[in-house]
This record gives sequence, C-alpha cells and structure tokens, in this order.
Amino acid sequence: MSAAQEILRVGRSPALRGVCSVPGDKSISHRALLFGALCRGPVEIRGLGLGGDNASTAAALRALGVLVHVSGTSALVDGRGFSGLGQAQVALDCGNSGTTMRLFCGLLAGRPFETTLTGDPSLSRRPMGRVAKPLRLMGARIQGRTDAQRPEGLLPPLVIEGGGLHGIDYALPVASAQLKSALVLAGLQASGKTRIEEPGLSRDHTERMLRFLGAPIHADPASRHVVVDPAGWNGELSASAMAVPGDLSSAAFLLVAAAVVPGSDVTVEQVGLNPTRTGVLDILRTMGANIEVIQTSEAMGEPVGRVRVRWAGPLKAAHISGELALRSIDEIPALAVACALAEGRSEFADVGELRVKESDRIASITRELARAGIEVQQTNTGFCVTGKAGLSPKGGRVLPDRDHRIAMAGAVLGLLSDEETTTPSEDIATSFPTFGSILQALGANLRIEVCSVD
Ligand code: S3P
Repeated sequence: MSAAQEILRVGRSPALRGVCSVPGDKSISHRALLFGALCRGPVEIRGLGLGGDNASTAAALRALGVLVHVSGTSALVDGRGFSGLGQAQVALDCGNSGTTMRLFCGLLAGRPFETTLTGDPSLSRRPMGRVAKPLRLMGARIQGRTDAQRPEGLLPPLVIEGGGLHGIDYALPVASAQLKSALVLAGLQASGKTRIEEPGLSRDHTERMLRFLGAPIHADPASRHVVVDPAGWNGELSASAMAVPGDLSSAAFLLVAAAVVPGSDVTVEQVGLNPTRTGVLDILRTMGANIEVIQTSEAMGEPVGRVRVRWAGPLKAAHISGELALRSIDEIPALAVACALAEGRSEFADVGELRVKESDRIASITRELARAGIEVQQTNTGFCVTGKAGLSPKGGRVLPDRDHRIAMAGAVLGLLSDEETTTPSEDIATSFPTFGSILQALGANLRIEVCSVD
C-alpha cells in the first residue's frame, strides 16, 4: 500500500529577501503548556509552537486530566495545580520529544501514582538514566528498558511511581536544561531544599518562567546553581496569560540561509533572544555575517526582538567550543552548513551531546555534508568541516534519520546547489512546519510536493 508524503524540492536560489516571523519557541511552548497546567484556573497562551513536539506535551497533559484547547497558535489551558493531575489511563506518548519525556519525568516523580512514558523509535534510543538517577535519589521509583549494548543506561519506555520526594544536592554530569528542569519540577514537590549545579549554563527558561509564575526558585547563572526551596510556599503558581516568542532555533536556518545566499536581506521579528540561546548570532558574526539585533520587548522574563541578516560576502571559518558550543547546541546543524560554505577549516569541539539528540547529529550532519561533496572529519568531541566559499554542493536526497534539524540543514545547503535537493517535510514538522512556505515567501527556489511512497 502506498502513503502520501510531503517533500521539499530545493534548488539554487536567488537572493532571499523579506521580513518574517517563525513559530513559537519550542522549549518555551513546552513549558508554557506544562506550567500553565500547574497554575490554578484558566491560562491563555499566545504564540504557541506549532510542531509535533509541542503537540506531544499538550496530549500528555490531556492524558493526565488537564483540559488543553489548542486553536492555531493559541491555547487555553485549564490549570489544576500539581495536586489536580490525575493518573493517566494510557501510556503518555512523548513522540519525538526528549523535552516532553524528561520534564514529565520530573513532574510525575512527585505525583502519587504510576505513569508509563513512551516515545517514537528515535526517542526510545535516548538516554534516560541521567534523569532517573537523581529522581531516584529524591525518592521516586523509576524503571525502564536496558540495552545489552549499554547496560549502564536506561531507555524508554519508563514507568514512574512518584510521591514522597525529598530534596537533594546534585551536580549534573552534563549541562542539560531538560535534566535541570526535571529536577526543578521534582524539587517543587519535595520536602526540603533541592540544590542543582551544572557544569555549564544550559538554557534557563524553566528558572525564568517559574520565577515569573511565583515559584520559590533562586538561580545564579554566574555560578550555575539553582536552588528550589518550597518551605513556606503555598504550592501555587499563577498567570492568566503567557506570550511565547518566536523560536531562534528555527530562525537560525533562515538566518544562515541569508548569510550564505548572495544578495540576501532577511529580518525575523518577535524572536526569543535569551542569552543562553544566542550563540548562533555570535558565531555568525565572527564568521563575518552582517547581523543586526534589536531587543523590542520582554515576555515572561525572556528578551524578545528582531534579527536582521544581510549577506556580506564569503564567510570565514569558525572555531566553536566550550560555552559557545553550549549556547548554540541546537543550531549546530545550521552552523555546519554555514561552515561548509565558508572559506577554510571550521571545528566544532565539546559537542559530544549531539550524539544523543533526535539523531546522532555528529554522524548525521557529517554524513549529509559528505553526501553533498564537503570534506568532514569526526573528532573525539565533535567534528571538522573544510568549507569553500562559492561552492555548489551536490544535490540529492537528504536522509535526516527522523531529525528535523538535519532535514532543514539539508534544505539550506540545497539553496546553493546547481542540482536538486529533496528533504522530507514530515520530519521538519517536529519543530517548524512552516519552514518550506516561509523560505518560499522569502524567494527561495523551493517547491512543496506531495508524493506517494510505498
Ligand atoms: C531543551 C534543552 C536542550 C535542547 C533541546 C531542548 C529544552 O537539551 O537541545 O532541543 O527545551 O529544555 P539539553 O537538555 O541537552 O540541554
């Protein structure tokens, strides 16, 4: 039997020009839905992300008895507080979303019932031991699947029996916002203080947003410590409305496209500018891109603004490591494309976490660049790309391993190719379903086509 599949057909493009906005930030949308459910009473969310990952979070909340009504980019969540969540009658399907699974682990570790969390084949390969270990130390009972290849690891599906938590002091083995957020959510439901220390500062949306909603959280970004102290707190979070800024991680693909397609001038409006996420802008600037950033407002403690990129000639190679790598971790597939079209050898170091994203991104991005005829090497902690300004990459079929960011990176590379590149829309829809239509509106040579597959 054959099924319909949407693909993007991309070819060499003229200058990209225009002003656009991108769907709501995926990380912030997950948190807006989840934290909205923990408030008391109705919460209206505007600018919600449209992708499959955020839909997984909304569905998981519904399974726990929360009314979530989504209409386009708005949602109405009927907040019930922590204690208003009920036992789900079915397993919570987190789809492709690591954030959904890990944040719900922390939430459900505090609830006095049993929940099963499942995911798609990509999520089912991602490590959950890092979140189960500290939550077990806090008193939760968590079981999962073990893999004969990695007996020390824990994989989905997970079964969590929560309740009776106590606070802990915990140094995270990796800088991870999903892990940090899980411990914060558990800490809010625990007796005593929870102190969390990270080896590097991961995105801090949870700290900013929960503080905005009245949670007893103290964060010190300089020392990378978060303290949750529920003593004396009435357990309530409150908000009547939340506004989600556009997703800089989605915008990154358009910004890189504007930096590499000659003559381009692209502005993305209303995009999140949280400093834990803006490494991509700093890196593109050091590569020689012409970038203008203007903060225009703030939403839930998050800076929001406009980013304009004007093509400024060939880019220079980059060296990305340490804190800069962490601040651009989700943008590395997009940046790797920029490096493929920049003059010289670029290096991405300290990016081992890419091995456990939606795909093994070191393997998938180097494979896609190599397919396009670009010289790449994997290294101990990342990979190198030897770029060439003015290069025409080979076209062909992008095989993204169900990874939205690899699918989009392949499409951006295709904008510079004399041959056609095809990439599946279905994978892109995880975070950025309007990617193809926005690129088209900016003038890209791109067709959206529905074809049948066996
Ligand atoms: C996310 C955190 C990041 C990021 C992911 C979204 C989040 O992962 O890569 O796409 O929303 O908390 P880490 O948990 O590794 O920081």
